[in-house]
Amino acid sequence: MAERLQVPKGTFDVLGEDALARDALLATARQLFERAGYERIETPTFEFTELFARGVGRSTDIVQKEMYSFEDGGGRSLTLRPEGTAPVCRAYLEHGMHKRPQPVKLWYASSFFRAEAPQHGRFRQFWQIGAEAIGAQGIRLRLGSLGTPASRAAYRDELQAYLRTHEGELSAEVRERIDLNPLRAFDADHPGTRKVMAQAPLLMDRLDPEDAEHFAAVRALLDAAGVPYELDPTLVRGLDYYTRTVFEFTSDALGAQSGVGGGGRYDGLIEQLGGPATPGCGWAAGIERMLLASPAPPVAPPVVDLYVAAAGEQHRVPAFKLTDDARRAGLAARLELAGRSIKGVFKQADRIGARYVAVLGDDGVALKDLQSGEQQTVELDTVMHHIRGVRL
Ligand code: HAM
Repeated sequence: MAERLQVPKGTFDVLGEDALARDALLATARQLFERAGYERIETPTFEFTELFARGVGRSTDIVQKEMYSFEDGGGRSLTLRPEGTAPVCRAYLEHGMHKRPQPVKLWYASSFFRAEAPQHGRFRQFWQIGAEAIGAQGIRLRLGSLGTPASRAAYRDELQAYLRTHEGELSAEVRERIDLNPLRAFDADHPGTRKVMAQAPLLMDRLDPEDAEHFAAVRALLDAAGVPYELDPTLVRGLDYYTRTVFEFTSDALGAQSGVGGGGRYDGLIEQLGGPATPGCGWAAGIERMLLASPAPPVAPPVVDLYVAAAGEQHRVPAFKLTDDARRAGLAARLELAGRSIKGVFKQADRIGARYVAVLGDDGVALKDLQSGEQQTVELDTVMHHIRGVRL
C-alpha cells in the first residue's frame, strides 16, 4: 500500500467547526473594517525576496531565518510572504494609490508563511487579519515608541556599547547579534541576559523632543478614548520598518506565544521601496491566536430547512428534484447521499439540525417536522406547499 501522506509540520487543515469559527471571526472583522472605511486588498502569496529583505529588514529573524524562499525558472529569488505590510506598501506604489485622496485605508485576511519552530499558537502557515492606513499623519496596547531612525541609530550605538561591557553575562545568541540587532536582546529568555537588560538604557528615554511629543499625543488620544494600555519601553517588534509608535496586543491565555496582534507606524517603508516619503500605520492579528485566546464562540451550525431521502432506488430522481426545487425556492436543502436506512436518515437529520425531513417512498412522502415532532404522509408535489413557511 502506498504511504499515507500528512500535512507538513506547522500546517493544518481547517475543517468543520473550526471553519465555522473562522468564518464568524472574519464576518465580524469585515464589518468592523468596513465601518471604519477600510477597503479589502489581497496581494500575491509570493513576492520578490528583495521586497521583504528591504521592507522587513535584513537583520530581522524573519528575513534571516524564517522565510520560505525559492528560485523561479528565471533565477529570480521569490519568497512566500511572511507578513502583509511590505506587500501592501508595494501595491500602494505599484498602483499609484498615492494619487488617491489620502489616507488610503486597506484591510486583508490572508495566509502567511514563517519557518518557525511549530508549537501551540505558532504555525508555519497561519492567517492574519490586518489593516493599513497609508498617507495620513493621524494617530490613531503594550505601547511603546521607537523614535525616528536618527534617534534610534544613536540609541543603538549606546546600547551596543552597554552590551559590550557586559558581554560575559549574555547568551551566545545575543552576543553574536550585538552588531546586527542589539534591540532583540530585550526579547531574550536567558536569565543572565535578562539581568543585564533590566539595567540597560531605554530608547524611550532617548526620544528626541518631536518624537516624545508625538508619543504624548498618541497617549492623549488613547486616554481620551478610554483605551487602557501599558507602557512598555522594551517592546521590540520583529520587523525593522517601524518608526515611532509600536504596539502589541497580548493574551495570557496563549502561553509562550502571547502576541495576539501588533503593529505600529512605518513612516520610512514606502520610501525604502522606491516611493516618496509617505507615512503609514497599521496592525495585524493572527486568526489562530485570536481563536485560541477567545472563549469558544457560539458557533451556529448552518441552517438546514429540509433533508430529503429516497426509500428505494426508484425514488432517487424525484428526491433529487425535490432538493433542487427547495434550493431554488431559497431553502437550505440537503439530499441524503450515503444510502442510510430510514432510521439512519432520522438520526442524521437530528445531527445536522434539520427542520423537516422528507422520505420519498411508495406511499408518498413521509414528511416530518422535527420541531413539533408531527409527521404526515403527503403527495410529492405538495411538499413545498407544506414547508413554505419554514423561513418566516
Ligand atoms: P507580527 O507581530 O509579526 O506583525 O504578526 C502579527 C500577528 O500575527 C502576531 O501577533 C500573531 O498573532 C500572528 N503570527 C505571527 N507569526 C505567527 C505564527 N508563526 N503562527 C501563528 N500566528 C502568527 C506583522 O506581521 C506586521 N505586518 C503587522 C503590521 C501591520 N504592522 C503594521 N502594519
